[in-house]
Amino acid sequence: MSRPTASTKPDYVLGTHDAEHARLGKQHSLWRELVHDGWKRAGIVAGNRVVDVGSGPGFATMDLAEIVGKNGRVVAVEISSKFVQEVNDQAKARGLNHVSGHILDLMHDEIPTLDGPFDAAWCRWVCMFVPKVSTLVNRIHHSLRDGGVAVFHEYVQYETYGLQPPSEGITSFTQAAMRSFSDRGGETNIAGRVLRELRQHGFEILSVKPIVRSARPAEDLWQWPAGFIRTYTPRLVESGQESEAWGKKVLDELNLAEQDPQSIMLTPTVLEIIARNRRE
Ligand SMILES: C[S@@+](CC[C@H](N)C(=O)[O-])C[C@H]1O[C@@H](n2cnc3c(N)ncnc32)[C@H](O)[C@@H]1O
Repeated sequence: MSRPTASTKPDYVLGTHDAEHARLGKQHSLWRELVHDGWKRAGIVAGNRVVDVGSGPGFATMDLAEIVGKNGRVVAVEISSKFVQEVNDQAKARGLNHVSGHILDLMHDEIPTLDGPFDAAWCRWVCMFVPKVSTLVNRIHHSLRDGGVAVFHEYVQYETYGLQPPSEGITSFTQAAMRSFSDRGGETNIAGRVLRELRQHGFEILSVKPIVRSARPAEDLWQWPAGFIRTYTPRLVESGQESEAWGKKVLDELNLAEQDPQSIMLTPTVLEIIARNRRE
């Protein structure tokens, strides 16, 4: 039997349905400032050629397109045909001829460099879902020019996710979510492995920055960690990983926390990594 192609493979663990699309959009807008700051420190500028690795529906892709301008190029690569279609539809609707989306499975396919190697690669919340990070880093290594930069946002300590002081149900949600990612072949706290692979592939680590954020119910940012608990808890129950009683306890705790304006929720800790590619 031939191996499944990227377009026929099942979508990633969080799905590609409308709710996940909306979640990724909201998530991107809440992270935009920090992401742009990282890109700036990495030296991504007008005229650059950038690859968005595991782009999802392309929220970061469109921001990168604006930064690099029409003299630059942005290539989005992604396993989900639905997300790639959305990238290409958006690019067309905005008249961005310098943006294109490509379906591929990073575990099996090389990143297409089209008309030359990239100046920069952007990769966020993708390493945690792939079975072999070494393969992903190798793909990026070969797609970048000598001196090109790779910028990653991946989790380094997911366990910070939850209320402070901690509550039993929400803490168990964090653990259950991590278990579900690893059951599907991923690893949540993957940033350390990314660092190791980058060094093994000859990258120079330019900057490492842990990012943990805190939110109160009235703040926009609250919707990111709270929204994921609200949408992912029913999925953990429906999949049979957790019981209905467990799901009720988690959501009851979340609702209760939301009624108290003084509640504090911490986000899972992301590690921003900026690294320079070296080619022999
Ligand atoms: C959490 S989403 C992040 C999307 C985007 N990077 C962002 O920050 O909005 C993870 C993405 O990685 C993609 N992905 C997972 N495994 C992949 C693989 N083997 N090859 C290509 N894309 C993959 C998923 O389809 C999904 O769009």
